[in-house]
Amino acid sequence: MPNFDVLFSAYRLNALDLPNRVVMAPMSRYVSPGGVPTAEVAAYYRRRAEHGVGLIITEGTGVGRPAALNDPNMPQFHGEAALTGWKRVVDEVHAAGGRIAPQLTHVGQKRSSETPDWTAPAPYESPSGLSMTGEQVGQPMSEADIADTIDAFARAAADAERLGFDGVELLGNHNYLINQFFWDQLNLRTDRYGGATLVERSRFAVEILKAIRSAVTPGLPVILRLSQWKPKDVHARIVETPQALEQWLGVLAEAGADAFHFSQMKFWEPAFPEVDAELNLAGWAKKVSGATAISVGAVGLSDDVNASFAGENARSAPLDGLIARLERGEFDLVAVGRALLQDPAWLEKVRQGRIDQIADFTPAAFATLS
Ligand SMILES: Cc1cc2nc3c(=O)[nH]c(=O)nc-3n(C[C@H](O)[C@H](O)[C@H](O)COP(=O)(O)O)c2cc1C
Repeated sequence: MPNFDVLFSAYRLNALDLPNRVVMAPMSRYVSPGGVPTAEVAAYYRRRAEHGVGLIITEGTGVGRPAALNDPNMPQFHGEAALTGWKRVVDEVHAAGGRIAPQLTHVGQKRSSETPDWTAPAPYESPSGLSMTGEQVGQPMSEADIADTIDAFARAAADAERLGFDGVELLGNHNYLINQFFWDQLNLRTDRYGGATLVERSRFAVEILKAIRSAVTPGLPVILRLSQWKPKDVHARIVETPQALEQWLGVLAEAGADAFHFSQMKFWEPAFPEVDAELNLAGWAKKVSGATAISVGAVGLSDDVNASFAGENARSAPLDGLIARLERGEFDLVAVGRALLQDPAWLEKVRQGRIDQIADFTPAAFATLS
C-alpha cells in the first residue's frame, strides 16, 4: 500500500490545528430554498466530517448585499433564518469532530448557469457595470456601495466566528465580484478602486481583508481563493510572471490573508512552464509569499471538473503525484471537490487503503446530496 503519511500529517493554519492536509473544496449545491441551509445540508457536511476531512469549506454563501447571489437556492450568510441554519451546520460538523469555514460570496455580474433567468432583488453589482463579455449592462458600483459591500464581508466574517466557524474563505476567484475588480477589462474605474496595475485593482480585496481582520480575533484563519482565469478563457493568466504573482500576493498577505487557495483545473499543471516545468499555482504562491498554500484540481480523478460538467465520467486515479508534491513541500493543503461530493468516505477509504472501493466519478452525483 502506498505511503500516505504526509496526507495525514497535522498542519497549523494560523491558530487552527488541522489533523490532516485534506480540505473539502467549496461546491455550490443549490439546495437551500430561500437562502436557508436545511437539515439535509447540515447532514451532508456532517458526513464529510465523520469520515475525517480535515477542513470543510462550504459552498459559496452570500454576504449581506441584496444582489450578492444569483440563485434563490444558494444559501445566504446574513439574516436570522440563514444564520440559524448555518449554526446547525457548524454544530453538526463539530459534533462529528470536524472543522468548517464558509466561503463568503458576492457574485458580482456573473449569472448562474443553474437559473440564468432568475434575477436578484436588486440590480447586479460590478466595478464598472460590465457583463462578463464586456457589454455595459448596469451602473458601476458607487463608493457607498463599495463601502457597504466591504462592511458586509466583515460582518459575515464576524458572524462566522460568533457562530463557531473555524475560519472563513473569500471567493476571490472565477470571475465573481472580488475577481472582477482584479481584471483590467472589467474594472475600468478611475477612482482608487481601479488603476493600471493589478496591485492597484486589488484595493477592494485589500480593504475587505483589512476589515475582516478588524472584525475577527487574530487567530481566525482567513483564506483567499484566487484563480488565473479570464472571463470565458480558463487558460488565460491574470499574472504572467512569478514576480507579478509575488507583488500581488504580497499586498494581499499583508492585508490579512493567511492562506491562498489557488483554483486550478488539474493540480499537476505547471503555472509558469517557461520558468519551472513542475511547480503549480499553489506551489508558486507558497514560494513567493511564504503563506499557507492550498492546491486543488482533479485530485484522485483522471479528468477535470469542466469535463464532468460536460457530462463525462472521470476515472478514479492514483494519488502518487499528489503525495510526491506534498512530500516536497510544494504546497501545504489540498482541496478535493468532486471525489468528496460523490463519496463522503473518500478520505477514509484512502487512509484505510480501500482504493479499490472508490468509484469513478459520474456527473449523476451533481444531482444528489448524499
Ligand atoms: C458542483 C460544483 C460546484 C462548485 N461551486 C463552487 C463554489 O461555490 N465556489 C468555488 O470557489 N468553486 C466552486 N467549484 C469549484 C470547486 O471548488 C473545485 O475547484 C473544482 O471542482 C475542482 O476540484 P475537483 O477537480 O476536485 O472537483 C464547484 C465545483 C463543483 C463540481
